[in-house]
Amino acid sequence: MSSLKCVNILAQLMLLLMLLKLLTVTSVSALDFAHHTQRDIENILSNWTVQFPHLTHVYSIGKSVRGADLWVIIIGQDASHHHTLNPNVQFVANMHGNEVVGRELVLHLAEHLLLEYGKNESLTGFLNTTHVHIMPTMNPDGYESSVLGSCQGIGGRTNAMGYDLNRNFPDELSQFPEPEQKETHLVKDWLHSTHFVLSANLHGGALVVNYPFDSYPGAKTRRYSASPDDDVFRKLALTYSRSHPTMHFGSFCGDHFKDGITNGAEWYPVYGGMQDYLYKKASGYQVLMEVSCCKYPRAPLLRGFWERHKDALINFMFTVHMGVKGLILAQSEYNDNLFLPIEGATVMVQGRESIQFKSTKYGEYFKLLLPGKYILMVNHSFYKPVEVPFEVQDTAVTRLDVQMFRAYLCESCDENNGKESISQLKSIQRVQLLASIITAVFFTKL
Ligand SMILES: *[C@@H]1O[C@H](CO)[C@@H](O)[C@H](O)[C@H]1NC(C)=O
Ligand SMILES: *[C@@H]1O[C@H](CO)[C@@H](O)[C@H](O)[C@H]1NC(C)=O
Ligand SMILES: *[C@@H]1O[C@H](CO)[C@@H](O)[C@H](O)[C@H]1NC(C)=O
Ligand SMILES: *[C@@H]1O[C@H](CO)[C@@H](O)[C@H](O)[C@H]1NC(C)=O
Ligand SMILES: [Zn+2]
Repeated sequence: MSSLKCVNILAQLMLLLMLLKLLTVTSVSALDFAHHTQRDIENILSNWTVQFPHLTHVYSIGKSVRGADLWVIIIGQDASHHHTLNPNVQFVANMHGNEVVGRELVLHLAEHLLLEYGKNESLTGFLNTTHVHIMPTMNPDGYESSVLGSCQGIGGRTNAMGYDLNRNFPDELSQFPEPEQKETHLVKDWLHSTHFVLSANLHGGALVVNYPFDSYPGAKTRRYSASPDDDVFRKLALTYSRSHPTMHFGSFCGDHFKDGITNGAEWYPVYGGMQDYLYKKASGYQVLMEVSCCKYPRAPLLRGFWERHKDALINFMFTVHMGVKGLILAQSEYNDNLFLPIEGATVMVQGRESIQFKSTKYGEYFKLLLPGKYILMVNHSFYKPVEVPFEVQDTAVTRLDVQMFRAYLCESCDENNGKESISQLKSIQRVQLLASIITAVFFTKL
């Protein structure tokens, strides 16, 4: 072999190596259209945290019955820290283990958000002020026993103990409550430790958005069960169905739904579902999307599903910034002019009082509302109730902070209880005061 030929081969080899390197680098960010296993999901999420360290934070809320982690990825600027009054959006998929399209949709959504950050102005602005928590599978055990290509089957629907997780949440209207499952318990804790303003629960087997209530007292026959925020839920559902190229036509998979949306109980009543629980007990708005007629379609169809659902998922997520939000501030025991954020105040909108939201541990509240004039009603056992009129525009969320004043004169309540409460309050506020002093000192030092 001549030396010239040798150099030539060497040069070609180096070029090939460079090309290979380029290919592997890009392949990390290009998520393929395939069904991803639990192991794949773990690799994908962990690669994203390496590639996008400031935009991502990955955590597990715990393990399923068979020991698989329920992973969540947060996407947004400074993803590992909460920023007061920046809302969290939640996507939960694959609660029914054999309904797998949502699982891939939310992975592609995550990738899209990561790749568009810094490129697309509106997505960048959104991720600067919002954290998106994505759980690709709530039922990894069910997924393991599901069958590729099975469109209508129920194998893999339940968790490993044979329970339907979307009938397993506490529901005071449920006549036959089932034993609480591990996955349900973990998700419940998650809903109470992280506040989700807006949430999507992705299912399959139909093409429609289903909104609360799923249940109502009494007989299990179909009928419309309106929540006090029916107008808001209809808006959320329509935003999704109208952003999908065909869902709003309403006739798919043998069903017919006007505009591609339905009230839950009007379709069929469900007791113990996640969406009613989140709305009644965890101060947020969840709807359920049925994203494909076929529950477990073959992989070549996945690209089409993503293309059709992409705008719907994004536009739905954008609706988190409507209505009103603010801080509930309570007068300090030590200084009449000092107001501190308070957790657990009851926040209601007049005319919609049957649903009571609680202020978060940061003192925040969020109410999604359509444009109009409203009255906010806030109460707390230690403070005088407050009513404040406000207006919601369609351009931006209204900011409304509320100050609550001490209610020393406890007319109707028991004397002793009143005294105990005040001392409890004082100790809570001592801790808060200390925390704010420490924070202030810390930040000035830095
Ligand atoms: C994750 O990154 C590693 C190293 O860059 C790569 O070999 C692997 O293919 C990536 N995995 C996925 C699922 O993207
Ligand atoms: C940015 O993303 C939004 C939401 O998906 C989309 O409507 C808009 O067209 C995108 N803008 C550009 C310039 O691509
Ligand atoms: C998002 O935040 C980054 C970093 O703070 C900033 O540079 C950028 O201008 C922001 N973009 C938008 C659209 O808000
Ligand atoms: C606030 O008002 C609601 C509705 O009247 C009531 O059910 C709730 O118990 C009150 N909360 C507190 C802490 O007083
Ligand atoms: Zn389902």
